[in-house]
Amino acid sequence: MSETTRKILITSALPYANGSIHLGHLVEYIQTDIWARFQKQRGHECYYVCADDAHGTPIMLRARAEGIEPETLIERVWQEHTEDFAGFHIGFDNYHSTHSPENRELATLIYERNRDAGHIVRKTIQQAYDPEAGMFLPDRFIKGECPRCGAPDQYGDSCEACGATYAPTELKNPRSAVSGATPETRESEHLFFRLSDFETVLKQWHQAGHVQAEMANKLEEWFEAGLADWDISRDAPYFGFEIPDAPGKYFYVWLDAPVGYMASFRNLCDKAGIDFDAYWGADSDAELYHFIGKDIIYFHALFWPAMLAGAGFRMPTAVWAHGFLTVDGAKMSKSRGTFIKARTYLKHLNPEYLRYYFAAKLGARIDDLDLNLEDFAQRVNSDLVGKVVNIASRCAGFIHKRFDGRLSAQCSEPGLYGEFVAAGESIAAHYEAREYGRAVREIMALADRANQYIDEQKPWVVAKQDGQEALLQDICSTGINLFRVLIGYLKPILPRLAAEAETFLAIDPMGWDSQAEPLTDHVINRFKPLMTRVEMSRIEAMIEDSREDLQAEAEASGGEAAAEEMEPIAETIGFDDFAKLDLRIARIARAEAVEGADKLLRLTLDLGGETRNVFAGIKSAYAPEDLEGRLTVMVANLAPRKMRFGVSEGMVLAAGPGGRELFILSPDSGARPGMRVI
Ligand code: 2FM
Ligand code: ZN
Repeated sequence: MSETTRKILITSALPYANGSIHLGHLVEYIQTDIWARFQKQRGHECYYVCADDAHGTPIMLRARAEGIEPETLIERVWQEHTEDFAGFHIGFDNYHSTHSPENRELATLIYERNRDAGHIVRKTIQQAYDPEAGMFLPDRFIKGECPRCGAPDQYGDSCEACGATYAPTELKNPRSAVSGATPETRESEHLFFRLSDFETVLKQWHQAGHVQAEMANKLEEWFEAGLADWDISRDAPYFGFEIPDAPGKYFYVWLDAPVGYMASFRNLCDKAGIDFDAYWGADSDAELYHFIGKDIIYFHALFWPAMLAGAGFRMPTAVWAHGFLTVDGAKMSKSRGTFIKARTYLKHLNPEYLRYYFAAKLGARIDDLDLNLEDFAQRVNSDLVGKVVNIASRCAGFIHKRFDGRLSAQCSEPGLYGEFVAAGESIAAHYEAREYGRAVREIMALADRANQYIDEQKPWVVAKQDGQEALLQDICSTGINLFRVLIGYLKPILPRLAAEAETFLAIDPMGWDSQAEPLTDHVINRFKPLMTRVEMSRIEAMIEDSREDLQAEAEASGGEAAAEEMEPIAETIGFDDFAKLDLRIARIARAEAVEGADKLLRLTLDLGGETRNVFAGIKSAYAPEDLEGRLTVMVANLAPRKMRFGVSEGMVLAAGPGGRELFILSPDSGARPGMRVI
């Protein structure tokens, strides 16, 4: 490796200590874990830390509802989270809690340094107060009618029906979600962090490339809107750390949550003798990366670096956000059974299937990721079982039966082997850039190449020919060596499979460069199937089980959870989602009936230079000859779908209830094929 050893500290966002880990969370932990494992495999000094986010009103109230102390609740959830993460091979170097002595000390230190530097101010504010429960109410704990559309039962900050955002004081007929009482407005003194003191520092930091381009645009908007002072205190009763010079006031959960990254690392340093200051000191040359979801950018790209700068600590090297998970193209839903908890998944399926599928779809951008369950099964089966593991299973038997497990004394295909080794740098560059999907594509292209080599050499034919022992051993040894290189490249994604393959190959744990030379004159172990196929029946059982989870929760909460979930939600999408659609004008060059399909027409669409084959369910409304030559609108970036009759490469847009009443959309005259619809 040409690079020198880097010092790298990596974090994932801290999950709240009042809920289960689900597949939505796992996008981030898997994304981060792959990156951490990759850096370790490259030989860097790298630590990956995380913790439970244990403070705040929801946790306090949840413990109250269960009739237990918050400490008991967070201890139990910590245990569950730790087990769930281990189940998915998330290899934290430390998993701590924000309710820890290290976090109290560091949060206090960061607060005091900022206060002493003049970045904290006190202001009296008016806030909703529940006179029955005797507590101030966070916005989320006030419910009422939306001031814009009148929808009942909306939270105090935003309306799920129409998407409006507002102040809780604007809600009609407000009531406390804690006691049902009508909230009063009361005054209280709060402590504020003066974010605007850091405007220049933050702008410089953003412009120096520490955030993704999409994030920088968002931040620009926030700068333009102006950086408001941030309320960092909450009144008792509150589960958190009391502010030293403000009795009865507590640090707001979001103040001490990111400090939890430091606290978890401090805890690790104390256990393992690592130099904390080398990573967090103002002049640290270590790299610090935070992986987060796109919903918490404000906290990580504004408040957190500002707090660090104000307290004399280093700022992060980068903050990297990812998008949300959808399942089969829709928001995860409890009633559809697609709100899948980590443990429910683990009861039915191998965690490495999901690690691989997420990796294959992850890139460096803040895009949402869809878990399409059929595609999931198909991709894992075809890539991992059908391509990668198959290489070993096609070769290992001969090596065992005919050569006592011994590989050839020399590599008979140095050119091919060299190609596999040479691909390592580009694959590494993709991992480094968090373009795991690209890395996976390159690795699978190599797997195809290895299978092609075996197909051409036909060891099963050679095995039957007299006097071809050496050739047979060479072919199979090459196959095994190519398999080894592939496993080395997949190791950050599939650590368990890699460990089992290392046992099979009788080798030490692979580093990134340890496959530079092939294994020769080396005895391997007997081959055992390293991965089995994903069965759709297991996926269906998992979905069913997830529905039952909801049922159980609903019963435990007196039916409320189910009732909330079953209500149809008028889903809105943001502009970013809309902008992802690539709508184009297309000319219907050809339209024809499809044999064996009652409803479909096969359309050949001209996009102005490019043609697409699309199956459209419009046969009942149009005769093919009426369509040819017409212009229409198509979704050009819909993922190709394999259908019984062929692959459909997009979708034409039509209006109407269906059947004979279906009207394809046409542009005004003057539009030309290929034009983008905006
Ligand atoms: O949004 C959340 O789930 C928070 N618990 C994340 C905290 S990340 C960090 F700042 F601690
Ligand atoms: Zn509304």
